[in-house]
Amino acid sequence: METVCRLVVTLLALGALCGADPVKFRDCGSTAGKILIVDITPCHTLPCVLRKGQSYAVNVTFTSKTSSQTSVAAVHGILGGVPIPFSIPNADGCKSGIRCPIRNNQIYHYINSLPVKSEYPSIKVVVEWKLKDENDKDLFCWRLPVQIAS
Ligand SMILES: *[C@@H]1O[C@H](CO)[C@@H](O)[C@H](O)[C@H]1NC(C)=O
Repeated sequence: METVCRLVVTLLALGALCGADPVKFRDCGSTAGKILIVDITPCHTLPCVLRKGQSYAVNVTFTSKTSSQTSVAAVHGILGGVPIPFSIPNADGCKSGIRCPIRNNQIYHYINSLPVKSEYPSIKVVVEWKLKDENDKDLFCWRLPVQIAS
């Protein structure tokens, strides 16, 4: 019995170390696509603890339900229902792992990073990340709770 327990504990610990765990997200209206996986590294549990001065890798796997020449990201922190813009290094989805034009019914990996500026306050906030197509429809829109910490 003890051996079994130890094995289980070891396996759980290994799982936590292996990164690239998909996180549970909330879909906020992906009408031009379907989200398959949202991956924030490192973030194993929710809310994601985001340390100031660090940068987090974002990898969103989604299927397109439309074709589009362009894709543009918009990231917000939602605080008490009010969306506050977050800056990301490159808002052009076509330069974030996606080969444009986007074709209908294809799987894409959107790759970007989320730098957490040191001047951000230490608060709990919901991050909303959208990728819009040429008609301003959401290829994806997901929300995740995060805790900004120093
Ligand atoms: C993004 O996630 C997909 C699916 O998990 C994986 O196949 C791909 O290698 C990842 N890409 C990067 C750059 O991490």
